[in-house]
Amino acid sequence: MLSAKSLFQEILDNDESFRLFCSIAASGESQGGWENARIAALVPAGERALAPKITRHGADEDKHGRIFDALMKKRGLDPVPVPPETDYTMLLEKRGIGLAHAKLEGDEPLTVQDVITYLAHSRVTEQRAADQMEMLRKHFADHPAVGKAVRMISHDEDNHLAYTHEELLRFVAAGHGRFIQRTLRDCALAEIRVYRNVSLAVMAHMGRILGWPRAKSTLLAAGIHAMYAYERSGGWRTMVSLRMPERLNALGGPTTAAPEFA
Ligand SMILES: [Fe+2]
Ligand SMILES: [Fe+2]
Repeated sequence: MLSAKSLFQEILDNDESFRLFCSIAASGESQGGWENARIAALVPAGERALAPKITRHGADEDKHGRIFDALMKKRGLDPVPVPPETDYTMLLEKRGIGLAHAKLEGDEPLTVQDVITYLAHSRVTEQRAADQMEMLRKHFADHPAVGKAVRMISHDEDNHLAYTHEELLRFVAAGHGRFIQRTLRDCALAEIRVYRNVSLAVMAHMGRILGWPRAKSTLLAAGIHAMYAYERSGGWRTMVSLRMPERLNALGGPTTAAPEFA
C-alpha cells in the first residue's frame, strides 16, 4: 500500500534516502533561521516590539536545522549537497516570494510593508511546515530514532503558525487588510506550485535511491499533481485565512533547548 506512512518509513530505513531527506530539511531550516535573524536586525523603529519574536522564530528554525544534522550524525551519516530543484526556500525566493536576499543582506531598515510581507510569507510556509510535521507526528511520534525530534519540531511549527496569525491580525486592525490579503494570495499561489515542483523532484531522487519500479513513481507523481490540482482549485484558501489563535504570544520568550540533539 502506498501511504504517506509507508513512504516515509521506506525513506527512514535507507541510509542514503534518510540522509538526503535530512540534508534537504536541515538546509531549509537553517536558511529560514538566517532570514529571520536578518529580518529581526532590520525591523523598523516603529515595530521594535516584534524583533524578539522574529529572533525567536529564527532561533527555532536554526535549532531545527541542528536537529536534522544531529539525526544524521547519530546514524554516522554526513550531509549531502541539496539538489537545487529540491531547495524549497531558494525556489520561493527566486519567484519573488517573501523578502529578497539582497534586501536582507543590506543594512537599510525594512518598511512596515516588508514586515507584513515577511509575516504573510511565513503564514503560508509555516502552514505547510505545520501540516507536514503533523503528518509525521501522527505516524512517527513514538519512533525510537526520530519521534522526539518530530514532536519537538511539530510543536514549534504550530507556534510559528499561531504567531503569524496573531501578528497579521494586528496589522489588519491597523488598516493593512487589503495589502495583507493580496500578499497572502500571491504567496499561496506561488507556494503551491513550488511545493509541487519540489515534491516531484524529491520523489524522483528518492525513487532512484530506493529503486522504485516505474509504476510506483508514476503513481506518486500522479498523487502530487492531484494534490496541486486540489490546492489550485481552492485548497489554497486554507493557507490565507486568518484566525486569532488559541495560544497567544506563542513566540514570547526564549527558544526551548534541545540538548540531546545540539
Ligand atoms: Fe522549522
Ligand atoms: Fe517554522
